[in-house]
Amino acid sequence: MSASWGRVVVFGGSGFIGRHIVQRLARTGVEIVVPSRNPGQVASLRLAGEVGQIVPVAVDIGSDAAIAASLTGADAVINLIGILATSRGNGFDAVQHQAAARIARAAKAAGARTFVQMSAIGADPASDSAYAASKGAGEAAVRAAFPDAVILRPSIVFGPGDGFFQRFGRMAGLLPFLPLIGGGHTRFQPVYAGDVADAVMVALTDPACRRRTYELGGPRAYSFRELLEYICRQAGVPGRWLLPLPFPIATVQAAFMELLPGKPLTRDQVRLLKRDNVVSGTLPGLSDLGIVPTAVELVVPTYLRPSGG
Ligand SMILES: NC(=O)c1ccc[n+]([C@@H]2O[C@H](COP(=O)([O-])OP(=O)(O)OC[C@H]3O[C@@H](n4cnc5c(N)ncnc54)[C@H](OP(=O)(O)O)[C@@H]3O)[C@@H](O)[C@H]2O)c1
Repeated sequence: MSASWGRVVVFGGSGFIGRHIVQRLARTGVEIVVPSRNPGQVASLRLAGEVGQIVPVAVDIGSDAAIAASLTGADAVINLIGILATSRGNGFDAVQHQAAARIARAAKAAGARTFVQMSAIGADPASDSAYAASKGAGEAAVRAAFPDAVILRPSIVFGPGDGFFQRFGRMAGLLPFLPLIGGGHTRFQPVYAGDVADAVMVALTDPACRRRTYELGGPRAYSFRELLEYICRQAGVPGRWLLPLPFPIATVQAAFMELLPGKPLTRDQVRLLKRDNVVSGTLPGLSDLGIVPTAVELVVPTYLRPSGG
C-alpha cells in the first residue's frame, strides 16, 4: 500500500469478507473507516488494528449526505454491501444498485483515487434473478460514476463464518435429509475469503487493475451434489440422504420458506441455482492478480467438524 495513503473507507466492512479485508488493511497502517447501520455492533472490529486505527461510523446508505460525510479524506473506497435476501426496507435494487451508485458518486466527488466494487459471478442487469440483476445494475452504475473502479465477482466464498459450508453443515447435523435443488447439478467454484481479501488488496494498489472486472474462483469446480456430499462427510454424517428436488417443487417450497424468519430459501435463490456459478474464462481472475487459489479441502476441515458446525 502506498505510503501516501491515509484513509480507506470500507462499506460492508463488518461482514464475513469485510473482516478479512479490514485485517489486511490494518497491517498496512492506514486509517480504516467502516460505515455501518449499527456501529456499536462492529466495535469488535477495532481490535484488528491499533488504538484509533479502525473507526466505525453510523451511515444510512439511503442518504447522500451521510455517505459523503463518511468519505471525507478517503484515498480509497471499497464497497462490499450486499444481501442474499430482501427484508423490509432492504430491497435488492436499493441495496446492491442504488446504494452502490450513491457510494461511487460520492467517492468520486470526495477525490478518492481507487474504488473496488464487490459484485458476484452471474451479475447481469438482464438476469431474471433480482439478486443478479441488481448486482449487474450496481456494476454499471459504479462504472459510470467511477470509471477506474475495479469490479470483483467471486463465486461462493468459504472460510470460518461463511454462509454456505457452515449453513449446510449445521443443516446436515440437524435434518434427516438435505435438499438437492435442481438435482444437484449446478456447478460452483468456491473461493477462499482470504484469497478474495488478497485480491482486494492487489486491486487497491496495482494501477494495472483499473477499469477491469475480475472473476474469482477457487482451484476447481464442484457440482452442488459433490459439495453437499463433502459437507456431510466433514459434518460426520456421510450417509445423510440427499433428496433430489426438481426446480418447480423447490420454487413452491421457497414461496413458503420466504415467509419464515431469516428466509432460509427464496424463489430468487432457486432461480440463481439454475445457472452454474463458475468463472467464465473470458475475464481475468485470481492468477492475473498473482494469487494462487486455496483449496476447499485445506480450509473447510479447520472449521466444519462432526458436531455440524
Ligand atoms: N459470501 C459469498 O459467498 C459471496 C459470494 C459472491 C459475492 N459476495 C458479495 O460480497 C459482498 C460481501 O459479502 P459477505 O459474505 O461478506 O456478506 P455479509 O457478511 O452478509 O456482509 C454484508 C455487509 O453488507 C452490509 N449491509 C447489508 N445491507 C445493508 C444496508 N441496508 N445498509 C448498510 N449496510 C448493509 C452489512 O452490514 P451490517 O453489519 O449492518 O448488516 C455487512 O457489512 C456482498 O456484496 C456479497 O454480495 C459474497
